[in-house]
Amino acid sequence: MATPTYPMFLKFSMLSSTLLFCFLLSSFKRGHASQYQHTVQISSLLPASVCNPSTKGPSKGSSLTLTHRYGSCSQISGGKASTPTLTEIFSRDRSRVKSIRSRLNFNSSKSNFQTSLATLPAIYGGSLSTGDYFVSVGLGTPKNNLSLIFDTGSTLTLTQCQPCVSCYQQQDPIFDPSMSSTYSNITCASAECSHLVTATGVTPNCSGSTCIYRIQYDDQSSSVGFFGQETLTITSTDVFPGFMFGCGENNSLSGFDLIDGLLGLGRDQLSFVSQTAQKYGQYFSYCLPARSSSTGTLTFGNSGAPSNLKFIPMLNTGTTFYFLDLTAIYLGGSELSISPTTFSTAGTIIDSGTVVTWLPPAAYSALQMGFRQQMRMYPSAPSNSILDTCYDLSAYTTVTVPTISFLFGGNVTVGIDPSGILYPVSSSQFCLAFTANSAASDVGIFGNFQQKTLEVVYDVAGGKVGFGPGGC
Ligand SMILES: *[C@@H]1O[C@H](CO)[C@@H](O)[C@H](O)[C@H]1NC(C)=O
Ligand SMILES: *[C@@H]1O[C@H](CO)[C@@H](O)[C@H](O)[C@H]1NC(C)=O
Ligand SMILES: *[C@@H]1O[C@H](CO)[C@@H](O)[C@H](O)[C@H]1NC(C)=O
Ligand SMILES: *[C@@H]1O[C@H](CO)[C@@H](O)[C@H](O)[C@H]1NC(C)=O
Ligand SMILES: *[C@@H]1O[C@H](CO)[C@@H](O)[C@H](O)[C@H]1NC(C)=O
Ligand SMILES: *[C@@H]1O[C@H](CO)[C@@H](O)[C@H](O)[C@H]1NC(C)=O
Repeated sequence: MATPTYPMFLKFSMLSSTLLFCFLLSSFKRGHASQYQHTVQISSLLPASVCNPSTKGPSKGSSLTLTHRYGSCSQISGGKASTPTLTEIFSRDRSRVKSIRSRLNFNSSKSNFQTSLATLPAIYGGSLSTGDYFVSVGLGTPKNNLSLIFDTGSTLTLTQCQPCVSCYQQQDPIFDPSMSSTYSNITCASAECSHLVTATGVTPNCSGSTCIYRIQYDDQSSSVGFFGQETLTITSTDVFPGFMFGCGENNSLSGFDLIDGLLGLGRDQLSFVSQTAQKYGQYFSYCLPARSSSTGTLTFGNSGAPSNLKFIPMLNTGTTFYFLDLTAIYLGGSELSISPTTFSTAGTIIDSGTVVTWLPPAAYSALQMGFRQQMRMYPSAPSNSILDTCYDLSAYTTVTVPTISFLFGGNVTVGIDPSGILYPVSSSQFCLAFTANSAASDVGIFGNFQQKTLEVVYDVAGGKVGFGPGGC
């Protein structure tokens, strides 16, 4: 049997299905190579039309059910949210990546804040494209239920508010501060108001004495409104009075598509993580389901990390993003030949809202070449938008793919679930779910497609991110 270098793969694959379990048992006898492959039913890679909620969660006190907004468990507009085409999905991904790059170039240091008071408001590139998974929370007294995308790439929590100047159509009634007994405006003289510059890149203004936020992107999408404080209800026991959020009155946000807003889980003083630090200790975790027709969980606070979790240091870059030290990629058990500076040049973030994983060009080409080599028995298919390594699997019921894993600083290996390797473009066409950045200086992004089924723990106070297999 092969070296014990990646014991995680074993546990990991066994969890994924009984079928695979049997396959692995038999493959041990056959020897070495099969430990570094996954054989999966092609049908299991496709979303199902029937919702099959995870049986694993939410079990703990401060857990919320996390749902893919276009999956069959989504109740958005009675399950009728129009599923975007692949072209739209990948165009949003491109746009989100553009906005991440643009925000990384904005320097949020104190001295820069002083400078920005005298300069024109920053306009981020890309769009405020949202992620894919939402949770339901309560806002105000009495409580309004809102479906918010949870987003590790944003910090300011946002929802549309009455009186609207311009609001897009959303799932739930638009929040009306005048109907709530606990809403208050934040004054523009407050320190909290000045913290907005890190979250939005724009120096806030005053309307009367009320702090006005603005977040704007170069595709014309924007949200402008009052910076307010309101009671936020996570669960019946976890209620946060005075939670600061953007109460948007003029919203032009194309990608939101019925979603009521965003729950900002990035890193800065206004983030949900900071505002709830006393209760949750800047600690949250999630598991994204293998298929959009199932559910996952978003848990706040440390209720005991599973013992199979491995922690990686979170790099402190002074940005609102979560940087990890990706150092190598393993394909089918072998390290791809990629110079270590390829990853260290711009670094790598983990993001809940970017779909596929974006790699430095040199890393992607090594992965692409190796993957094509190991998949050469399958007929290739045309590329699709940002995905260029595609297969026509119409003649197959199962597919065998090489394992893919990431090696992080601290010698931690994270195996990608079989559900996170091939992207289903159609019922017969599947593509390697990774893509290349256009420049070596662009940040790498560990996307949500590859995070599926992993328990991902953000211990922000402890400065580390943990990964464990079989989270949901
Ligand atoms: C990294 O971890 C593996 C086991 O996961 C071990 O075999 C290897 O020796 C470690 N390498 C270093 C440099 O510590
Ligand atoms: C931010 O500003 C500091 C000090 O001016 C500078 O050293 C640093 O390189 C800047 N970072 C970025 C990403 O521009
Ligand atoms: C809000 O959601 C809770 C739990 O899902 C439900 O019990 C309650 O009836 C909802 N309230 C409204 C006003 O929709
Ligand atoms: C503040 O007002 C100035 C001048 O009207 C405008 O250019 C800027 O975008 C405003 N900022 C916000 C946050 O609305
Ligand atoms: C918040 O400020 C706006 C603008 O000054 C004002 O119209 C609104 O009534 C204020 N709301 C509350 C609850 O004070
Ligand atoms: C609302 O936002 C749009 C787009 O930014 C802008 O053109 C319009 O003037 C705004 N309306 C008001 C009343 O602020």
